[in-house]
Amino acid sequence: MSNINTIEKLKNGTVPEKNELALLLGTITADEKELLRLAAQEKAQSVFGNKIFIRGLIEISSYCKNDCFYCGLRRSNKNAVRYRLDKERILSCCENGYRLGFRTFVLQGGEDAYYTDEVMCGIVGEIRRLYPECAITLSLGERGYKSFKRLYEAGADRYLLRHETANAEHYSKLHPKSMTLKTRMESLYALKEIGFQTGAGFMVGSPGQTYENLAEDLLFISELKPQMCGIGPFIPHKDTPFWDKPAGALETTLVLLSVIRLLHPCVLLPSTTALGTIHPKGRELGILHGANVVMPNLSPAEHRKDYSLYDNKICTGDEAAECIRCLSNRMKNIGYEIVTGRGDFKQI
Ligand code: SAM
Ligand code: SF4
Ligand code: FES
Repeated sequence: MSNINTIEKLKNGTVPEKNELALLLGTITADEKELLRLAAQEKAQSVFGNKIFIRGLIEISSYCKNDCFYCGLRRSNKNAVRYRLDKERILSCCENGYRLGFRTFVLQGGEDAYYTDEVMCGIVGEIRRLYPECAITLSLGERGYKSFKRLYEAGADRYLLRHETANAEHYSKLHPKSMTLKTRMESLYALKEIGFQTGAGFMVGSPGQTYENLAEDLLFISELKPQMCGIGPFIPHKDTPFWDKPAGALETTLVLLSVIRLLHPCVLLPSTTALGTIHPKGRELGILHGANVVMPNLSPAEHRKDYSLYDNKICTGDEAAECIRCLSNRMKNIGYEIVTGRGDFKQI
């Protein structure tokens, strides 16, 4: 058993064993990394060419009833500045985004009781009415089957809910007792069953994570086959219990992006803001390792810095128009092109 064999398996569409994946992550050499990267980049290009999909991210609320140990929005963080956007503010972000060429809006926020099903369905329904050709993605945490279903029926197309870790013991090191991996997994299967294009995903280098845990995450992705997969490095936030933990590694994140691309060739795989935060060329590197989506920020400039999940988050001082220009140039510089259009998942 060697890493080269594992990479060959990935290239041939065979799912490696857990121990092979863990070994690959822990011992991959520079030459093997390049082999893996090239295979993943080629695979992404065979599905998407040199086209990169964009999603307009609207951070609708910094209130959260949960207390995830890693996140700056956790309810116990008394230093967090809280804000929420009402329907009018959200619609004005969409209007701005539409003008800038976005055809997917991602509404993301903490688990904020203000957004009841009635309120949320009103917002989703109005976006659907005003922008019939746009995709609406939600990322609002766990809401239960009935709520997910109502949101789908109101016109939402996609839902992002990272599983965070596929290992129950590790999950309990990242969350208070009130949150369980079981509920998270049930939510993900419910979203898929309802018909959402569903996004799972995890942080790389979260406290207590082992290479075996990451191998379990990869096997979970290959089993669930989500239409989207969000991964990015864990980055500490100064006002959380994990304030002194190290950030996740760039290199491991890149290797994981490549492995995910090979395990699930058609998956919509973002090169995340967190990756751009730990390295100035992080998002470009993500694309070169097999990612095919970027998510510029469409949130109102005055609230950007208050959606503070982790320290030193990039793009908090920039207007949406600046971010999109900046990202287009970054993609051009590495031979890729941002395309407008919904960018739906397609199995080929
Ligand atoms: N509240 C919703 C939820 O938890 O699904 C959506 C918003 S939440 C802020 C979105 C994602 O941010 C989480 O799934 C988590 O992976 C990521 N995140 C939170 N804190 C982070 C940190 N310190 N470093 C990197 N990513 C983080
Ligand atoms: Fe709330 Fe999501 Fe942050 Fe957890 S990760 S505290 S659910 S915003
Ligand atoms: Fe936001 Fe570069 S992407 S300023």
